[in-house]
Amino acid sequence: MTSTFRSRPAASPIRAIDVITKKRDGHELSAAEIESFIAAYTTGGIPDYQASAWLMAVVLRGMSRTETAALTNAMLHSGEVLDLSEFPAAKVDKHSTGGVGDKTSLVLAPLAAAGGLVVPMISGRGLGHTGGTLDKLESIPGFKVNLSVAEFRRVLSACGCAMIGQTAEIAPADRKLYALRDVTATVESPYLICASIMSKKLAEGIDALVLDVKTGSGAFMKKEEDAIFLAELMVETGERVGKKMVALITDMNQPLGTHIGNSLEVIEALDVLRGSGPEDLRQLCLELAGWMFYLGGIESTTELGKLKAERLIRSGAALETFRTMLKLQGGDEHVIDDASLLPRSKHAMQIPSPKTGFISEIDCQAIGTASVILGGGRAKKEDSVDPSVGIILHRKLGDAVSAGEPLCTIHYNSETQADEAAALLQKSFRIAEAAPAKKKSLVHRVIGGDITSR
Ligand code: URA
Repeated sequence: MTSTFRSRPAASPIRAIDVITKKRDGHELSAAEIESFIAAYTTGGIPDYQASAWLMAVVLRGMSRTETAALTNAMLHSGEVLDLSEFPAAKVDKHSTGGVGDKTSLVLAPLAAAGGLVVPMISGRGLGHTGGTLDKLESIPGFKVNLSVAEFRRVLSACGCAMIGQTAEIAPADRKLYALRDVTATVESPYLICASIMSKKLAEGIDALVLDVKTGSGAFMKKEEDAIFLAELMVETGERVGKKMVALITDMNQPLGTHIGNSLEVIEALDVLRGSGPEDLRQLCLELAGWMFYLGGIESTTELGKLKAERLIRSGAALETFRTMLKLQGGDEHVIDDASLLPRSKHAMQIPSPKTGFISEIDCQAIGTASVILGGGRAKKEDSVDPSVGIILHRKLGDAVSAGEPLCTIHYNSETQADEAAALLQKSFRIAEAAPAKKKSLVHRVIGGDITSR
């Protein structure tokens, strides 16, 4: 198969302001302009303020398919593209477009590795109102996400999975742009999301990729048609370079599981690896793992893949793989058996229900934002994240609640932040007199993959 993603000769210099102006005025940028802009920004030749203006112009004006392919290509080749052909097993990864309470990566990397796949996972930090795998992992004392390529390979060969961030060596353009988008309200663009995700994933040297494209009140793509558009863009991008691709459009009208916040989410992911945890989170992990085993050629259908995933959790193999990876990446393995070793907030406060009824709607983005306000995410690039804060939900969609019973508990360290988050959370639950008719299914649809064999 021919690849559109080639490295090109060094791009000629451009004036950043011309590229910004052209995009602001709705014109199509050439591949050479995009490559020069990305190369210059990555190496410090373009300042953050100009890159921010360009990102905002892209959010407002959009990109053509050709521009999106050029951006993905430029970001991919900003660093090294790994060749993992020395590993005989299939290299398969999963990536989500960002959600609230979405800790599936923490479960899936060790689970898939325990089942015989190699999972070279490059993840991101918190983005906008959504949480990030790297921030969650760093809440584990000692855990290092900044491995060199040589260390990354060593961990992969020892336990089949490794979880790192974009580095100066791999996907450095995404590393810088991702951090900038987080604090400049420039996340919600399917073109930028596609280039960000696919540049990292194609740099990993994978054979197959399972995408979890979120839709609903807590997703970047609130409308299902926008999520489908993004899913198709990414599936096409991967298939064009010979990767096996599938995208699951999944529900984000409420947080996944009950725990939101960095160390709180590690606790819940460990519960799933131990065979318990909330049913929605567990089901989504099994669904995604089923696809990973299917695309990786380990099982002949996704259903058999799900059964395999269940067995690997039941036997303890997935948890043991997580333990090995955690130790190899410098983390304190004792957190697995003693959650009190994870950072904990000083205070907790319940948000009571104002009336009796059933939870009919949740503003999932507001819940993610409340967690960011508590310190779980960043308002500025230089902010550090407080790993101990977050929210635990006591009620989810369709649940009955009586007046005065807690809807959720806020875990916090600052009274001011807690008051601001509480004000937002109080408005985030709609309570109706009657029970809602029917729950939305977790997986709305599947795009790509070979679904005839399901
Ligand atoms: N995940 C990413 O890696 N990038 C995005 O832009 C959104 C989600």
